[in-house]
Amino acid sequence: MASVLRERSASASIPAYTADAPGHIAVPSLFAVAPETTAWIWTTVAIVAALLILEQSVYRYKKAHLPGDKWTIPIIGKFADSMKPTMEGYMKQWNSGALSAISVFNIFIVMASSNEYSRKILNSPNHAEPCLVHSAKQILCPDNWVFLTGKVHVEYRKVLNTLFTRKALGIYVNIQDVITRKHFKSWLEDAAKDPSPKPIMMTCRDLNMETSLKVFCGSHIDDVAAKEIGDRYWDITVALELVNFPLALPGTKVYRAIQCRKVALKHLENAAAKSKQAMAAGKEPECMLDHWVRTMAEPGYKGRKDFSDLEMAMVVFSFLFASQDAMSSGLIYGFQHISDHPEIYRKIVEEQERVRGGDPDRPITLEMLDDMPYLRAFVRESMRVKPPVTMVPYKATKAFPISENYTVPAGSMVIPSFYNSLHDPEVFPQPDELQPERWLDPNGSANQNPKNYLVFGSGPHKCIGLEYAMMNIALVLADAVMLMDWDHVRTEKSDKVQIIATLFPQDGCLMKFCPRARA
Ligand code: HEM
Repeated sequence: MASVLRERSASASIPAYTADAPGHIAVPSLFAVAPETTAWIWTTVAIVAALLILEQSVYRYKKAHLPGDKWTIPIIGKFADSMKPTMEGYMKQWNSGALSAISVFNIFIVMASSNEYSRKILNSPNHAEPCLVHSAKQILCPDNWVFLTGKVHVEYRKVLNTLFTRKALGIYVNIQDVITRKHFKSWLEDAAKDPSPKPIMMTCRDLNMETSLKVFCGSHIDDVAAKEIGDRYWDITVALELVNFPLALPGTKVYRAIQCRKVALKHLENAAAKSKQAMAAGKEPECMLDHWVRTMAEPGYKGRKDFSDLEMAMVVFSFLFASQDAMSSGLIYGFQHISDHPEIYRKIVEEQERVRGGDPDRPITLEMLDDMPYLRAFVRESMRVKPPVTMVPYKATKAFPISENYTVPAGSMVIPSFYNSLHDPEVFPQPDELQPERWLDPNGSANQNPKNYLVFGSGPHKCIGLEYAMMNIALVLADAVMLMDWDHVRTEKSDKVQIIATLFPQDGCLMKFCPRARA
């Protein structure tokens, strides 16, 4: 081989113009290179070839017998698919096996589609921990509590659980009701000016953002600050792609998201300081921050007390981050599902009339929400059919023997799917059909198989805000059916899903609103 290389180098090294006889075509200068350059080229080719062979061998070794492509696309793997994910693409992967393999940029990924394996990943903190997309750490700050794992995470969560007790939810419900009614008033004013159907994607996001900020911070955040955060928050949503440009340089999505976080944290830190002052002055708690400060001051409280303004701000920011897209998705599909099912709409209205005693202006309380079993069943079912979050990436921290005959290699990504558990025909007959009634029978298979309801995950990182989230979606829809008549304008894209961190109807859900006639 070496002699072949030498020979070729020797002939190629003759300068083209001296070796050329008249009438001959000139040898392209590409070949007219020094022997050492040619050796360098061949060495590079050999190294690259060896690396490519190694890449394929490692992939095939890790994949073992799992379904998945036999060969991975060199270097990028399934990167193109991950840039524009589709439900069809995911389904194809999930349907290929309870465990299946792919690779993206040499990150080896095991996808779990069955309930058993998905739950095993979520409930094996000694082998796997959440692995948010790379940009999440840059956006949330690496020292945000959401990146904690193990015992410290459990301890931190214990404190935060106090923010979602029934007592706390009782404070939040009134704020949610007031903000929701304010937004509906403005939706109706806009509709009166221009009655053409409009996508509700952004209007729902705005409603969620203001509700969250006022529930979390009350009057400690003013309207200007809330608007500034709301206006810029989309920059964060779009930066949550699986793979982003690695450096947060000006002009990149991650850079813009980081600027949004800086603005938000400044306002939230300020709100935490004001809350501490208000509670020290003996005021009544009126939001989550107040409730937190007051709880820490209670004589029986045994948890950690020394949370700085910045730490409290980072917690609130983590809640915004975790909830904004998922809540918007849940709410938009709630609107769409009610409009597309007149029978369900009729039952929800009947229940509302009963609970409110015919008075749509009566503010909603926790007790009233308790008395709305049909609406709560609908919200559960709506998110089962279209789960806002279809999967959550985890990372194997060590070799993870997930099944009898397969061990996920340490360092791999493991991605449990929620969709399949939520659409399991054994547990949810006619799984794609919206049937709130399935949740009304305590002995029915839906209620008898709570392990399948993975909308909020499972295990130590299960959604901390799930009660609050369900309550908020129910409350908004309850007010919506009482205060407005709405008409969903269906398009051929209404039932198609787009994935922007969470699921949304591809047409953004086109709605027409008008005030509901009063008796
Ligand atoms: C419809 C709305 C929501 C959905 C579908 C949803 C779903 C989820 C899911 C699937 C997880 C990951 C669970 C796991 O890894 O096992 C999660 C985690 C989390 N969620 Fe939610 N969520 C929603 C609303 C909220 C709200 C309103 C808040 C806060 C107010 C919140 C705060 C969090 C936090 C902080 C985590 C991380 C918990 C931890 O790592 O300990 N979420 N959520």
